Amino acid sequence: KAKWLLCWTSTWHLRIFVLMISTASGQIRYSVPEEMKKGALIGNVAQDLGLDLTRLRSGRARIVSGETTQYTELKTDKGILVVNERIDREELCGDTAPCSFSFEIILENPIELHRVTVEILDVNDHAPTFKNKVINLEISESATVGSHFDLESAYDPDAGIHGLQNYVLSPNDNFALKQHSNADGTRFAVMILQKPLDRELKPHLSLKLIAVDGGTPQRSGTVNIEITVLDANDNPPVFNQSLYKATVAENAPLGTYITTVNASDADSGSNGLVTYTFSNVKGKSAEKFEIDSVSGRITVVGNIDFEKDKKFEIRVIAKDQGGLSDATKVVIDVVDINDNAPIINIMSFSNMISEDVPPGTTIAVFNVKDADSERNGQITCSLDSSLPFKIQSSLTDYYNLLSHVAFDRETKHEYNITITATDSGSPPLSTKTTLHVKISDVNDNAPRFTKPDYSAYVTENNSPGMSIFSMIRATDADWNQNARVSYILEDSSVNGVPVSSYVSVSADSGVIHAVRSFDYEQIKDFQFRVKAQDGGSPPLSSNVTVKMLIQDQNDNPPQVLYPVQTGGSVVAEMVPRSADVGYLVTKVVAVDVDSGQNAWLSYKLQKATDRALFEVGSQNGEIRTIRQVSDKDAVKQRLSVIVEDNGQPSRSATIIVNVAVADSFPEVLSEFSDFPHDKEYNDNLTFYLVLALAVVSFLFITCLVVIISVKIYRWRQSRILYHSNLPVIPYYPPRYSDTLGTTGTLQHVYNYEVCRTTDSRKSDCKFGRAGSQNVVVHWASHENECIMCTFCLTTFFQNFYFCSL
Ligand SMILES: *[C@@H]1O[C@H](CO)[C@@H](O)[C@H](O)[C@H]1NC(C)=O
Ligand SMILES: *[C@@H]1O[C@H](CO)[C@@H](O)[C@H](O)[C@H]1NC(C)=O
Ligand SMILES: *[C@@H]1O[C@H](CO)[C@@H](O)[C@H](O)[C@H]1NC(C)=O
Ligand SMILES: *[C@@H]1O[C@H](CO)[C@@H](O)[C@H](O)[C@H]1NC(C)=O
Repeated sequence: KAKWLLCWTSTWHLRIFVLMISTASGQIRYSVPEEMKKGALIGNVAQDLGLDLTRLRSGRARIVSGETTQYTELKTDKGILVVNERIDREELCGDTAPCSFSFEIILENPIELHRVTVEILDVNDHAPTFKNKVINLEISESATVGSHFDLESAYDPDAGIHGLQNYVLSPNDNFALKQHSNADGTRFAVMILQKPLDRELKPHLSLKLIAVDGGTPQRSGTVNIEITVLDANDNPPVFNQSLYKATVAENAPLGTYITTVNASDADSGSNGLVTYTFSNVKGKSAEKFEIDSVSGRITVVGNIDFEKDKKFEIRVIAKDQGGLSDATKVVIDVVDINDNAPIINIMSFSNMISEDVPPGTTIAVFNVKDADSERNGQITCSLDSSLPFKIQSSLTDYYNLLSHVAFDRETKHEYNITITATDSGSPPLSTKTTLHVKISDVNDNAPRFTKPDYSAYVTENNSPGMSIFSMIRATDADWNQNARVSYILEDSSVNGVPVSSYVSVSADSGVIHAVRSFDYEQIKDFQFRVKAQDGGSPPLSSNVTVKMLIQDQNDNPPQVLYPVQTGGSVVAEMVPRSADVGYLVTKVVAVDVDSGQNAWLSYKLQKATDRALFEVGSQNGEIRTIRQVSDKDAVKQRLSVIVEDNGQPSRSATIIVNVAVADSFPEVLSEFSDFPHDKEYNDNLTFYLVLALAVVSFLFITCLVVIISVKIYRWRQSRILYHSNLPVIPYYPPRYSDTLGTTGTLQHVYNYEVCRTTDSRKSDCKFGRAGSQNVVVHWASHENECIMCTFCLTTFFQNFYFCSL
């Protein structure tokens, strides 16, 4: 029979004692917790065995056991069993449960043997413990969710409920704990990764694993779990900017710094080592730029030309050693530098312009370009302002070069037009182009004579066809054909005769030729106009007056008018014997049709019967006595007077003057009677006086007839010339000028003959060559002397014939 007493004692540490008392014949059983203090009561053996204390004493009850360690002690005086030595269940039984030990109590007198079994009840006297204080774990951050990590188990020697009951992991985000039991019942914990680790976020984790038992109070043991997160290449490099912008000036020297790209990689070690490369390895950008693979510095390695590339876009790749990468874009704007000069292209250009083009005529069209942009490409065109040209812009970048004023080839016949194109860069660049323009001639200038008028002198009796004046010169400011001057004699008439019968003009030289021989005594001067005409189309001309002055030649001898020379008769001047010194006997009157010196006459006494008696006034021709006439002087005095003109050489005429020195007429007659005609003279003195009167009358009538005839003849002659197409000097183009010499000069020769009589009754004939004067009065003493005459008019007065050629 067993009696269980359950005692509850409430003390500060709440102990539970379970006493199990069993009474059997000789066998009792106790249950005591372990670790009771020495002397602690295990059980009342006496009572439980039903023995009284005396019996115990008398029976010398004692404990016998085979064990070495006496855990219990029997207090016989009280009949109780107490703890003798600390009972450690774990030591006693280890893991065996239940744990008990037995011993016997022997009594003597009578011997009684009772078996006592003490069951040791476990007490939570051990906390779970770990072998190490720290668990070091190295876990790669790349560990996948669900990965297991075995943890060191804790050990709790307590058994049962007091043994290890549970593991607890300090709160964390990444791990959960799972517990398992081994076959032997020991528990162990496994950490399971629930959320991936991130070294970059938390390179190190410190956790606590707590192992608890089920005792009351609960006991626990703790171990630190130090987790080192191992790096995995789980972070790509990341550029700190998604776009890098930079500018570079064109023509930047090699090595110019552009920008630095920077990618950071959160990984460590080689996983975080970033290298930079250009993604477009081939292509323009790669030729012009270089990136330092370590520092990310981008520099210039090629020639950058804004005109080819205004912008570069480079993809830069940053790569870590694990192969992760990031890309970014670097935009490099090229800044224009004024490195291109403008270019001038002449699109159309006429290098020859007529001088009469109106202002504003387009001469050239040109185009300007500048490869630069913005201000560096803004072009202004300019010209030298002194030039008579201007620039006008037409379409974009196209310009017209216009004439600005009217041209005058004669002032300037060519221009060098320099067009300067300048851009607006700083410093500006410019280009020059020179156009060479020639101004072509237009016949806008008439020929001009060197003088407003000309005077030409020609000596009379010139030979026809002779060049008489070569000073006429006209110039024309135009060019070439427009300046080729021809000279033309303008139609006019001189004394009713066309001027062309007097002179001709050589068309190309302007030399004036005489067409006939001039006679000063007939014409002293005349004027005509010469036209100078150029070869333009239409031609321009101007004219000039040429005054032709004929100069006298001493071609006429003096003619004595008085005393009249009669054929056979003798005329004498009477000088009375009483005449004083200086008595004027007579006066010789002579004329000379020449003029000037040639007509300046002087008189000289050539021969005289008595040279001492008479003298002749050299200027006036007066014959005077120079001494008193005496009775001894002869009645008949014969004087020979020579009249000379002053020409070179001089011409002269001689006259015989008869002087009668007498007081009465009969005396004279007696003296002159030896002359053959003197008697007849004396007889017919009266008759001769009458005859003289008749002669004077006849002369008057004859002159009248002659003048009328000459007039009629001239009129007829001019009519003939008018109808007979006398050579007119036409205008010939200059290339025909070689023939002009023959056509321009009159080849006709007009001869005329002058016959004169002298008192010696001989014909004095002269041949000359001159113009149209064909009528001549021929004085002859006999009809036979007039052979050259075509017809002769015989007059009733025997010594005069009137004839015409
Ligand atoms: C890159 O940028 C980060 C922050 O943006 C900075 O800490 C680091 O020093 C830079 N690296 C270089 C090489 O400049
Ligand atoms: C990126 O890195 C570069 C180089 O170190 C630096 O100059 C720049 O300021 C950084 N940019 C940012 C936004 O941090
Ligand atoms: C124009 O230039 C040419 C060649 O350079 C030169 O021979 C000529 O004399 C110049 N003409 C003028 C009007 O300057
Ligand atoms: C000659 O020239 C003058 C001006 O010099 C002009 O008035 C005249 O008409 C011209 N005569 C002829 C016939 O051309």
